[in-house]
Amino acid sequence: MKLFYTSCAQLLHIVSKIVQTMPLIDLVHEPVLKKEVIGVLMSKKIKTVFDGTLGLGGHAKLILENFPQLEKYIGVELDMQHLDFAQKKLKKWHKKTVFKNQNFSEIKEILQTVGFFRPLVVLLDLGICSNQVDNGEKGFSFMQDGPLNMAFDKKNNGKCSEIINKFSENALSDIFKKWGEEPMHSSLARKIVEGRKQKKIETTMELKSIIEANVPSYKVKKILMRIFQALRIATNDELWHLEKVLHETVNLLELGDRFGVMSFHSLEDRMVKHFFRKKTEPKTEETVFSLHTQTEPAEFRLLSKKPIVPSQVEQEENSRSRSVKFRIIEKI
Ligand SMILES: C[S@@+](CC[C@H](N)C(=O)[O-])C[C@H]1O[C@@H](n2cnc3c(N)ncnc32)[C@H](O)[C@@H]1O
Repeated sequence: MKLFYTSCAQLLHIVSKIVQTMPLIDLVHEPVLKKEVIGVLMSKKIKTVFDGTLGLGGHAKLILENFPQLEKYIGVELDMQHLDFAQKKLKKWHKKTVFKNQNFSEIKEILQTVGFFRPLVVLLDLGICSNQVDNGEKGFSFMQDGPLNMAFDKKNNGKCSEIINKFSENALSDIFKKWGEEPMHSSLARKIVEGRKQKKIETTMELKSIIEANVPSYKVKKILMRIFQALRIATNDELWHLEKVLHETVNLLELGDRFGVMSFHSLEDRMVKHFFRKKTEPKTEETVFSLHTQTEPAEFRLLSKKPIVPSQVEQEENSRSRSVKFRIIEKI
């Protein structure tokens, strides 16, 4: 009998070890612009990659497979479930990978702690993974029922619900206008405030039904997209962190280092575009007769004049890739 229990315990131990080492098969995300990441962003000279949006490790795997000369791959991710998944997926490269459950805007502190070799590439693939949209529990999508959450990391759990249920009508309207660019921002804010007086708005579907009932039906989908986008940006302070990472990154790059950002909506892309433009133009001063003379040469060059966009084939195969714009600069 004792032998039987010992064997059962051993068996259970073995099964639990197998489960621990098994990949989490239900998380899926197809990385975008794979060819361009390999062919434009990366080069055989690069020694370190700082991947600020590790996600499920799709780009990481691609890069690690194609650039064996890399000495360090630093993967940063706010969503702990993603970080765990990616860490397992990349265990073959455990000697050169470092994982951090932090915000990419902490790039300076992370690189200082971890140490790195140059040339360095910094990659940001902004936004959310497909599985975050598909998982109703995360509350990102108006297509799935779930709690109004939208937080990338636990620290912000409850913030979205607080915005919807506690913020003033003016503050809500501002969020919808600024971060959703939603023309019906004020009437929708009013309807939400009226709705929450009847009952606290707790789920994505409850919010969706208030919006659906108060906008023309042919516009519903676009408006839902804009409102959910605005709430996600507000919940995670996304544009604040983007602004911070842009400044901090360019300040720490040196000759030959590269910085690539993939953005998926116009607010992000506009920010990146203007910032990169400023950094890739020489500084000038207005002199007599409104003539401009160059006072300082440009600090960076653009690796592609126009933003890189996906091929027709990629757009057909991966609908999420359709809105991506990829901009890359190199320190000169
Ligand atoms: C589009 S996915 C990245 C997918 C990844 N490139 C891949 O191939 O699997 C974006 C990821 O960035 C994470 N994220 C978003 N904002 C972040 C931030 N400020 N700091 C760190 N991670 C962030 C999200 O949780 C999500 O997993």
